[in-house]
Amino acid sequence: MEKPQTLLLFLVFLTIGASTVTASSLEHRHHVGGVLSKTKLFVFGDSYADTGNNVKSSASSWKVPYGISFPGRPSGRWSNGRVFTDYFASFLGIRSPIPYKWRKIGSKLIPFGMNFAYGGTGVFNTLVPEHNMTAQIDLFQQVISTGVYTKQDLKSSIVLASVAGNDYTTYNARNGSAKDLPAFITSVVGQLTLNLKRIYGLGVGKIAIAAIEPMGCLPELTALSSYTKCNETANAASNFHNVLLKQAVAKLNNDTKGSPFVFLDVYSAFMTVFNSEKQGKPKFKNVLKPCCLGTSSGYSCGSVDEIGAKKYTVCKNPGSAFFWDSVHPSQHGWRSVYSVLRPSLHKIFHNMKK
Ligand SMILES: *[C@@H]1O[C@H](CO)[C@@H](O)[C@H](O)[C@H]1NC(C)=O
Ligand SMILES: *[C@@H]1O[C@H](CO)[C@@H](O)[C@H](O)[C@H]1NC(C)=O
Ligand SMILES: *[C@@H]1O[C@H](CO)[C@@H](O)[C@H](O)[C@H]1NC(C)=O
Ligand SMILES: *[C@@H]1O[C@H](CO)[C@@H](O)[C@H](O)[C@H]1NC(C)=O
Repeated sequence: MEKPQTLLLFLVFLTIGASTVTASSLEHRHHVGGVLSKTKLFVFGDSYADTGNNVKSSASSWKVPYGISFPGRPSGRWSNGRVFTDYFASFLGIRSPIPYKWRKIGSKLIPFGMNFAYGGTGVFNTLVPEHNMTAQIDLFQQVISTGVYTKQDLKSSIVLASVAGNDYTTYNARNGSAKDLPAFITSVVGQLTLNLKRIYGLGVGKIAIAAIEPMGCLPELTALSSYTKCNETANAASNFHNVLLKQAVAKLNNDTKGSPFVFLDVYSAFMTVFNSEKQGKPKFKNVLKPCCLGTSSGYSCGSVDEIGAKKYTVCKNPGSAFFWDSVHPSQHGWRSVYSVLRPSLHKIFHNMKK
């Protein structure tokens, strides 16, 4: 991880006018398991979890062609459609919680919880000037202080937290050395652990923290091998992050009654999807190649030039791509990852069944 990587970040900087979408138009009831339908879901983290908090005027998630498959126009999701949060909510049998930003206009969705995730962010400040996870928890604390959620609401709620690598993107962009990377990873996981502890202290029931995905398999890095090979150096960094995180979760559970912390192995789920492509009937055209790409370097999915001409291409069938853009899974990608995780989710959340 020596060279600057753009990973989850660069997409966020581009600007274009965005269409509006109301919270209620995002309603969907696919895959509803009804496992825990009174549960509220609170979400923290980055673009893998954000469903609309990023600033409309500057985020690619609010530009065409984001959202073309669902809801049919940009909705602030970093995908052609649904993201992991949506599938996680459907597993719980609830609607995707309202982005914090819309809590006033979409107040009827408040009973499902709230999404505090902001694309481009990390546990530390990144190159994207949005709320880091600490600031997201501050927002949660403010919302709680208004009394909109009761103690019992919180106690039966579930938290989903995503840290998909913007801290590392920023480290690389600031020319952090390969030698110091392990220490930096340790500090990221250390801060994340403090965040999880603090969220628990606010009275929530269960906290699921997503493992980091195999960063070396993101198209941003596989482009160098024409989308044929994952970068093992970057995957080793992901693995180190995950080993530390898993240990931290074990320690948190050991120190807390009822083992409320859950390590969601998103890394293995991505790998299972990639590896299953090699066996039997592939689900994706080329699992490492994104659907939406900038036409040349300097452009990315959603880019337009000064006169408004498109500077990106979109594949014919977004449903055939695991990755939507250079760093984010497509809706079909997320659905596949979710399918792999589903049995373990059933096991983890079974004892909370009402
Ligand atoms: C893997 O990625 C790192 C940056 O994270 C880069 O320095 C290295 O050259 C890449 N290796 C290959 C084989 O592409
Ligand atoms: C989070 O952001 C705030 C505001 O920019 C900053 O003061 C704080 O140090 C950041 N927290 C961490 C852990 O980096
Ligand atoms: C990082 O290194 C590159 C290449 O040596 C240089 O152009 C860039 O200014 C450096 N960035 C920072 C933030 O130091
Ligand atoms: C778990 O907690 C016990 C008692 O509090 C302690 O002795 C033990 O070292 C802890 N184990 C871990 C892995 O933290």
